[in-house]
Amino acid sequence: MGGEKFGFLIWVSSISCLICLCHGYVPVDNYLINCGSHTNATVTGRVFISDQLASSHLTSPNEILAASNRNSVSDIYQTARIFAGTSKYTFSVARGRHWVRLHFSPFQYQNFEMGSAQFSVSSQTHVLLNDFTAKSRVMKEYYLKVATGNLELTFTPSGNSFAFVNALEVVSVPDTLINGEPPFAGSPGKFQGLSWQALETVHRLNMGGPRVTPSNDTLSRTWEPDSEFLIEKNLVTSVSKIASVNYVPGYATEETAPRTVYGTCSEMNSGDNPASNFNVTWDFDVDVGFQYFLRFHFCDIVSSSLNQLYFNLFVDSMMVVENLDLSTYTFNVLAAAYSMDYVTGSAKQTGRIRVSLGRSYVHTNYPTAILNGLEIMKINNSKSQLSTGTFLPGGSSSSTTKKNVGMIVGAMVGSLLALVVFGGLFLLIKKRGRGGRDGHSKTWIPLSTAGVTSGSSSGTTITSAASNSSYRIPLAAVKEATNSFDESRVIGVGGFGKVYKGELHNGTKVAVKRANPKSQQGLAEFKTEIEMLSQFRHRHLVSLIGYCDESNEMILVYEYMENGTLKSHLYGSGLPSLSWKQRLEICIGSARGLHYLHTGDSKPVIHRDVKSANILLDEKLMAKVADFGLSKTGPDLDQTHVSTAVKGSFGYLDPEYFRRQQLTEKSDVYSFGVVMFEVLCARPVIDPTLPREMVNLAEWAMKWQKKGQLEQVIDQSLRGKIIPDSLRKFGETGEKCLADYGVDRPSMGDVLWNLEYALQLQEAVVDGDLEEDNSTNMIGELPLRFNDYNNQGDTSVNVAVARKGRYEEEEESSVDDLSGVSMSKVFSQLVKSEGR
Ligand SMILES: *[C@@H]1O[C@H](CO)[C@@H](O)[C@H](O)[C@H]1NC(C)=O
Ligand SMILES: *[C@@H]1O[C@H](CO)[C@@H](O)[C@H](O)[C@H]1NC(C)=O
Ligand SMILES: *[C@@H]1O[C@H](CO)[C@@H](O)[C@H](O)[C@H]1NC(C)=O
Ligand SMILES: *[C@@H]1O[C@H](CO)[C@@H](O)[C@H](O)[C@H]1NC(C)=O
Repeated sequence: MGGEKFGFLIWVSSISCLICLCHGYVPVDNYLINCGSHTNATVTGRVFISDQLASSHLTSPNEILAASNRNSVSDIYQTARIFAGTSKYTFSVARGRHWVRLHFSPFQYQNFEMGSAQFSVSSQTHVLLNDFTAKSRVMKEYYLKVATGNLELTFTPSGNSFAFVNALEVVSVPDTLINGEPPFAGSPGKFQGLSWQALETVHRLNMGGPRVTPSNDTLSRTWEPDSEFLIEKNLVTSVSKIASVNYVPGYATEETAPRTVYGTCSEMNSGDNPASNFNVTWDFDVDVGFQYFLRFHFCDIVSSSLNQLYFNLFVDSMMVVENLDLSTYTFNVLAAAYSMDYVTGSAKQTGRIRVSLGRSYVHTNYPTAILNGLEIMKINNSKSQLSTGTFLPGGSSSSTTKKNVGMIVGAMVGSLLALVVFGGLFLLIKKRGRGGRDGHSKTWIPLSTAGVTSGSSSGTTITSAASNSSYRIPLAAVKEATNSFDESRVIGVGGFGKVYKGELHNGTKVAVKRANPKSQQGLAEFKTEIEMLSQFRHRHLVSLIGYCDESNEMILVYEYMENGTLKSHLYGSGLPSLSWKQRLEICIGSARGLHYLHTGDSKPVIHRDVKSANILLDEKLMAKVADFGLSKTGPDLDQTHVSTAVKGSFGYLDPEYFRRQQLTEKSDVYSFGVVMFEVLCARPVIDPTLPREMVNLAEWAMKWQKKGQLEQVIDQSLRGKIIPDSLRKFGETGEKCLADYGVDRPSMGDVLWNLEYALQLQEAVVDGDLEEDNSTNMIGELPLRFNDYNNQGDTSVNVAVARKGRYEEEEESSVDDLSGVSMSKVFSQLVKSEGR
């Protein structure tokens, strides 16, 4: 028996030697198809064969070969196959796991605008895509088990639409790549039956290293760099020691992840300072309603000997491994490749997975932590689906979402272009703002008109756990900033108290909201606001710089918002009116802020006081949502808050919230719908001076929307300037937000997406002239959805969008970086001034 085992071992090792010699795993099935093309295409050393040769695999009632002449894209993206009816590819394959990779890169061909095609794709056993729309280039990768010897991929157009695909791959993968019973991350128990699940790759990252392409991976996978997912990029350093990677038999192999992945890592940037104590955190967008498989790849390339690296691993803020010591896992081999699998506990309720690393609490000599690679894969749900059908770039189909960011956000860059165009106007506004500071008070920080009495509280010291003492500002610093609350600096007055414009020692402009010292009113709001704002940071939420609770004061210090409230730009203040594009961008920005709140961290947060006076505009008219005094982590039924909120936001209040007293995110959606009509019609939400049927804006606008004559009631200054399609989209979206029942209203993610779309429809025409010959240079890798000569108009539009998408991606990250930097600068200034 012993001999038999020994023989087996030798046999295994000679096989693996053979495998090494022939460059790793060789897939039994390897179908690579260049759809819609008459020629083979070679991409990173892999040959995608002409569709003609592959046509025996296809049964289709009505298919079209579509060719573009997009020279700047990879060969496989130059053509596509269009399916006007349900069509099926059938591949004869060995039983076992296969990668199915679907490549989409939409372009316009004759009447087919692929970017708006909607369709589903399924295998015999699983729904891979449901009512999917590929708005920009995206590759979908699945890890599917084939039990029958045939793999069928069925493309089904939704409704009157059509389906398309640019290239597809069906490639064998070792069954052992992902199997077993991984433990749940942060909760007891194990996930059973992984071997029957269909998985979809959501993210596959090479930490601290470059993109690894299929040619450098024996399983033809693509590994992306991790930096865009890091919350704070300056907390890590990238390490690369590819040559030192060891594959220990029985553990990870080159198939688990290639050397190029194990040989680089993102390391906690602690500078060997034993006092360093922070977490390195990555955030990933995922679809709600699914469980996710997580595979962590580790390889200690940073230590000089064993037992020098201990750290903690968290998923969604839960401890998953404490004092992780890689040396104990791998037979005491240093720099051994090792992978660890987990499955998220239950179907995700939020659209995010958060992974953090932190130093060990006990092994204090080595305050560092590493991660070399990470894979996140979606697990099919109990209905055997990997997509639930509500495809929305705002948060549904995640990998698409990610790729779509460029485009969605592209719409926002419109605002940057608009900035250039309207630059003069902005300067004008600014000047006016400065000059007339004393004249018309700019209420840039909203004051809750409704105070919340929170019982008796003698000391106003904030003791709540969530209040973060690093935000505390000495009273002396606040006084210095406001010239001892000089009356000439008052820029707003409300029930809560006064708001001053101030300037910190380092020149940062701030808004100082000071509660009336005589009253204890508003303490609850004060606390809530600190808790909320210190937890949430987002470019579309107004930032809290600090608070002061010395000497019974209740003072909040925020970033200063140069352009005041959205409301003041709509009516009643004499400010120049905003263009339609600017208004859309403001709506999009605030929708983004609310979407973040609703889908944020652990529990969704409901703002509860969404209104145009709580949307502030910075010097570039970028919108930020403010005033979290009434916010709640919901759903919740706090009666005391109910009544006060009613007072505060008359005209914006969700009727269902009245009826059922039940608070959900959909109440914010309703209020946001009111804001949308306010933006469109530029009039107060309640105006008692008007004839009866016009008093309530929501009712009045809905009446016209339902008649299909919304253009009758829009802001005079917008007449004739809104593209009808854009207006229609906007009106429909607003109407849905105002649905009587919360369930019928869209999520903020949907709203966001629809607004982006309305902006695109608007820009489509406005930017038509921007198309230039040199635009191709700027497009880079972004999908081009053009080159149909019959449709020059659309062509230029799509180019413009693609080009902007590129910019905005960069813009977005740099803005975030900058805001991080300036915040920490502010803090250090505060600390310094405290010391003086
Ligand atoms: C395309 O590739 C297939 C398979 O490798 C080969 O048989 C065929 O000759 C190639 N066709 C062309 C035109 O190169
Ligand atoms: C990919 O492989 C090629 C050779 O096959 C090599 O020259 C290149 O450095 C590799 N790239 C990475 C990122 O490892
Ligand atoms: C790191 O993250 C975990 C989980 O969210 C948290 O419990 C811990 O306090 C964090 N550590 C630091 C130093 O922030
Ligand atoms: C995924 O689909 C399979 C059927 O193919 C089913 O047996 C399994 O339970 C599904 N997974 C989950 C988590 O429901």
